[in-house]
Amino acid sequence: MRIVLVGPPGAGKGTQAHVLAKTLSIPHISTGDLFRANISQSTPLGLEAKGYMDKGQLVPDEVTIGMAKDRLLQPDTAQGFLLDGFPRNLAQAKALDEHLAAEGITLDGVLDLEVPEDEVVKRIAGRRLCRNNGAHVYHVDYNPPAVAGVCDECGGELYQRSDDTEDAVRTRLEVYHTETEPIIEYYAQQNLVTTISALGKVDEVTQRAVDALQARAAG
Ligand code: AP5
Ligand code: MG
Repeated sequence: MRIVLVGPPGAGKGTQAHVLAKTLSIPHISTGDLFRANISQSTPLGLEAKGYMDKGQLVPDEVTIGMAKDRLLQPDTAQGFLLDGFPRNLAQAKALDEHLAAEGITLDGVLDLEVPEDEVVKRIAGRRLCRNNGAHVYHVDYNPPAVAGVCDECGGELYQRSDDTEDAVRTRLEVYHTETEPIIEYYAQQNLVTTISALGKVDEVTQRAVDALQARAAG
């Protein structure tokens, strides 16, 4: 399946994508994780992206679209992919459509994770992620690791993202409303969107996501 996940910062896109990717045996592609991997390796792309990310702004499309397309051309996407955090504005959605059309493929669905803003703020405040693998995501209260500060999956050190500050989160939420929400309407016009509540336990949300994707696959 070829799926796009959308939802505000802190909705649980990364958390759900990590589980769904394993269940569906398709790669989880997060542009945020790709940028953070570049930052930790101090690549030129990482250095450019960091300034935007720490302020909560979008990294410019020229950089982001090229990086996403390169990733989508990797052979592991042959059976599908789960996009998390891309596309994030109309220009990126149109660029993705053009890329897929050139490859002769289409999206199967867009899963829209809905969660109130006060919940998002609580989720982001307690988030910790693994230095070895940014897809390993925890929360100090809601989804704690067995040993504080240590990743259950790989033993890596857990840290707090540098854009999880009050100011950056406020900007990220604004950017989500102005830049990203319009893509939900864009995809709704293509009949691709299913909206699910992202409230409740992680596995309850996963079940809702699986049910929604199965309903879509069944037509
Ligand atoms: P990105 O990394 O994509 O961040 P984001 O969209 O702000 O989303 P988050 O990762 O904050 O939230 P999430 O929905 O993944 O939630 P998570 O699963 O972690 O992007 C960061 C930056 O990179 C952007 O601001 C931009 O600068 C740049 N960027 C990335 N893509 C770009 C693009 N396409 N174009 C331009 N720039 C781009 O969960 C959050 C917390 O909640 C965790 O602690 C988790 O444990 C907890 N949690 C999850 N589910 C539940 C649950 N059901 N109940 C309780 N707690 C839960
Ligand atoms: Mg994420």
